[in-house]
Amino acid sequence: MDALIQEDIKNIIDSIKREAPAFDGKTILISGGAGFLGNYLVATFLQLNKEVLKNPCKVIIMDNFITGSQKNLIFASENNPNFKLIEHDVRKPIPTNIDADYVIHAAGLASPFYYKKFPIETIEVAVNGTKNFLEYTKEKKVKSMLYFSSSEIYGDPDPKFIPTPEEYSGNISPIGPRACYDESKRLGETLCVTYHQLYNLPVKIVRPFNVYGPGMKVNDYRVIPTFMVKAINGENLPVHDKGNQTRTFCYITDAIQGFFKILVSGKNGEVYNVGRDNEEINMNDLGNIITKLAATNSKVQLINYPESYPAGEPKRRCPNITKIKRDLGFNPTVDLETGLARTLVAYRSVLQAQK
Ligand SMILES: NC(=O)c1ccc[n+]([C@@H]2O[C@H](COP(=O)([O-])OP(=O)(O)OC[C@H]3O[C@@H](n4cnc5c(N)ncnc54)[C@H](O)[C@@H]3O)[C@@H](O)[C@H]2O)c1
Repeated sequence: MDALIQEDIKNIIDSIKREAPAFDGKTILISGGAGFLGNYLVATFLQLNKEVLKNPCKVIIMDNFITGSQKNLIFASENNPNFKLIEHDVRKPIPTNIDADYVIHAAGLASPFYYKKFPIETIEVAVNGTKNFLEYTKEKKVKSMLYFSSSEIYGDPDPKFIPTPEEYSGNISPIGPRACYDESKRLGETLCVTYHQLYNLPVKIVRPFNVYGPGMKVNDYRVIPTFMVKAINGENLPVHDKGNQTRTFCYITDAIQGFFKILVSGKNGEVYNVGRDNEEINMNDLGNIITKLAATNSKVQLINYPESYPAGEPKRRCPNITKIKRDLGFNPTVDLETGLARTLVAYRSVLQAQK
């Protein structure tokens, strides 16, 4: 495993000391485990086996590789007996010969480029996939299930609700260009709370806000990978429209800390924002930081929205994270410039290796 990612995993483990013992000798089933977040989750569990747990946990990932790739698995070379990969499309029922204590449903089409390309698959993984895991959780008496929703469920929030708290119900069109993603994630949430109400199921919901870091595919087409690759190659950074859209970005180690806290200590049937509530930044300024860090000749270039990108992007996005800080002790520590610098180092080595 890359030294930089190893350092990230170590930092994650330091931040989840209270939660880690819950996984002693347990089995964790992770959908979308070959994706960006899944990869870091798996790497963390396997490192917990080495450093913390008396009895190792077992990690099973399920992925159909629609966007993820087996060769991107950061722990692949370890040939670990506590790790198993199952190629499975979670839109189909989850095989009942698998026994898991914890379930993390992270499969999804997270990048706007890919959910525009695969809209039906996007809807079905959030709706049918979530229902399949809820049924599995019910049948197998799972201890805790975490469903990955998204900050996109808030749509384009009323400025009165920025920073956006969990109670804000969103401003979204069910027939808009982004509806396949945000409306299906919303229905996934509805399924989770309904199963919780009917069967007292131990399910929790997370709404991540723009997580980034090493391990995001270079062809992911979300903003940070796109800017990084262009900047390293000395090309101009394509900024949509006037570049006034704002986001807050959360470095991967902080986000994974939040996911673990929710899985272990979150309240059943509840939803938590995960992200950072400071350094809200517009795309021009983000581009300028990345060009400065890359120190090539690239610069920000304003362009019209491309055909491949779904229209109607939210103007601002910033979470209110009071709930997870207060109730679960979430403590994000990585500022934007530090996280971007780390990501850039990782991207340089990936691009170098591809030459
Ligand atoms: N990264 C973020 O900032 C962010 C923000 C909000 C929400 N999320 C959500 O978190 C989850 C993980 O995001 P990510 O950034 O790791 O995305 P990713 O695209 O890197 O990984 C998703 C993985 O899910 C797999 N997958 C998709 N459909 C599947 C199916 N039907 N069966 C099995 N596997 C399937 C893909 O092959 C891929 O490996 C997603 O559900 C995403 O919508 C992520």
